[in-house]
Amino acid sequence: MKERFYVTTPIYYVNDIPHIGHAYTTIAADILARYNKLMNRDVFFLTGTDEHGQKVEKAASEKGRTPKEHADLMVENFKSLWQKLNISNNAFIRTTDINHIKTVQGLLHRLWEKKEIERRAYTGWYCTPDERFWTEKEVIEGKCPDCGRPVEQIHEENYFFLMSKYQSALIKYITDNPNYILPETRKNEVLGFLRNNTLGDLCISRPKNRLSWGIPLPFDENFVTYVWFDALVNYFSATRYLVPHPEDAKLGDFWWPAHHHLVGKDILTTHAVYWSTMLMALGLPLPKNIFAHGWWTVNGKKMSKSVGNVIDPNTMVDRYGVDAFRYFLFREVPFGLDGDFSEQALINRINTDLANDLGNLVSRFIAMAEKYFGGTIDIEFTGAGASGELEEQCAYANMNIHRKEYWSHLHFSLMLENIWNIIREANNYIARKEPWKLAKENTDQLKIVMSNIWNALRITALSLYPFMPDTSEKIWRQLGMKSLVDEAKELSPEIFEWGWKPSYEIKTSKAEHLFPRIETKK
Ligand code: ME8
Repeated sequence: MKERFYVTTPIYYVNDIPHIGHAYTTIAADILARYNKLMNRDVFFLTGTDEHGQKVEKAASEKGRTPKEHADLMVENFKSLWQKLNISNNAFIRTTDINHIKTVQGLLHRLWEKKEIERRAYTGWYCTPDERFWTEKEVIEGKCPDCGRPVEQIHEENYFFLMSKYQSALIKYITDNPNYILPETRKNEVLGFLRNNTLGDLCISRPKNRLSWGIPLPFDENFVTYVWFDALVNYFSATRYLVPHPEDAKLGDFWWPAHHHLVGKDILTTHAVYWSTMLMALGLPLPKNIFAHGWWTVNGKKMSKSVGNVIDPNTMVDRYGVDAFRYFLFREVPFGLDGDFSEQALINRINTDLANDLGNLVSRFIAMAEKYFGGTIDIEFTGAGASGELEEQCAYANMNIHRKEYWSHLHFSLMLENIWNIIREANNYIARKEPWKLAKENTDQLKIVMSNIWNALRITALSLYPFMPDTSEKIWRQLGMKSLVDEAKELSPEIFEWGWKPSYEIKTSKAEHLFPRIETKK
C-alpha cells in the first residue's frame, strides 16, 4: 500500500466571493498535494465551503434567498476559481452535505454521552459578524476586541463543551510536538495565550429562535450547533465519505489524522484550541500539523469591500496567466509572514524571473537544439559528477528542493530560490561555454554542453511542477518528452537524478515564448 498524505484548506464562507486570500491558502495546499503525488504518495486533498451560521443566513436574506439557495449559487464561485487556478483537490466538502451533518451529530452525541457537554444559563457579549461570545472583561468599550464592531449582551441557556479541562493537556501536547503548530512564532503565541489565560468552556449551541440555519443538536431540537463546531468537524467527516478509496474508509481510519491543516493566522485559535481540545475529548488523534500563514494586504491596506480594493484572483489570472500568479504569491513572501500585493510587483516578477531568467533560457536552448542538431539531443552521461559545475549546482539545489525540513515547514520561497539557482546557473553556463563557438570548433563538446543544459532544464521542470504545473508540463514537452506527471509517477525517484533519460528518442520542439514581457505604461 502506498504511503498516504492528507492536506486540507479552511472551508470558506459562502457569504461572499473568493479573493486572493482564499486563493493563497488553496494554492499552498495544491503545492503540497502535487509534490506528494509526484513522490508517489496517495493524496487526499480536501477543500470546501462553510455554509451554516448567521453570516450566511444574513447574506442570503439580504439577497432574498434561502440560505441553501444562496450557498448553492455561491459555491460555484469557489469551484470555478479552483479550476481556473489548477487546483488538484480530489474532494470538495459542503457543510450542508447530509453525511457531514450526520457525522457532526454523531460526534456531538458521543460528547454528550461522555458528559463532555453541559447545559448552562449564560450571560455574555455577542459579536454577530464574528459569531463569537466575549466575556465582560474581554469587551472593549462595548466593542468586539477582534473586529471592533458593537457587541450585544445576551442571556440564554446554552450547551457548553467543557474545553477548560483540557488546558494543561493542550499545553503539554503543543510542547511535546514541536511541529504541531507552525511557524514557530505562531506556536509561541498560542502557548503564551494558553499559559497566561484561563481557558473557558466553549458555547457550542445557538437557540433556534435566534438562529435556525444550522445543524440541529441531536439531544435537544430547540438548538442548532455553533457554526465553528460544525465547520471544524469537516476535516474528520470528509474521511468518512469523500476519501479517494471510500471502500477502505469503512475498514478503519486510514486517512485521519491529516498531515497539514493550512489556515490563515486569523483562524489559528479556533484550530489550535477548539479543534485540538474537541479531538482530545473525542479520543481521536490530533492532526500532525496546523500551519498558520500570514495576511495579504493590497498596496499597504487591508482588503475590504468598502475601500474597494479586493483583488479578484480571476482578473489576475486573465491578465497574467495562472502560473505567473501562483509563482508570485509564493516567491514574493516567505510562507508564514504577512505580504503586500501590488500588480506592479507581480509584473516585475514576471519580467525578471519568468520572462528573462526562465523563459529566455528555455527558448534559447530550444533554438540552439534545433539549429545545431535538428532538435535531437543525445544524452551524454559519463557517470555521476562527470558533467562538472552545472551538475554540481543542480545536485545541490535539488537536495535543498527535496529537503524534508523544507517540506515539513513549508519553506516554499526557499524552494523557489533554489530552483532559480539552477536557472541562473544554466544561463551562466551558456554564457561561459558559448555553444555558438563550439558549434564551429568542437561538436563533441557541444553535444555534452547541450546535454547538460537539457538535464538542468529537465530538473527545473520537475521541481517547478508543484508550483507551476502548466509551465513545467510545457517545458517537459518542449524538451522532447511525453508527459511529466505520467512519467514521474512511473519512475520516481530516479527521474529526479541527473543521469535519467527516457527510453525513447528525445526530439525538442519549438513553442511560443512561455512568458512574454509585460510592458507597462510609464
Ligand atoms: O474563516 N490573506 O472562512 P473565510 C491571507 N469558514 N489569507 C486570507 C486572507 C488574506 N487577506 N483573507 C482570507 C472562515 N484568507 C471559516 C473557516 S475552517 C474549519 C472554517 C484565507 O471564508 C485564510 O486561509 O473567512 C483564512 O484563514 C481564510 O481565508 C478565511 O476564510
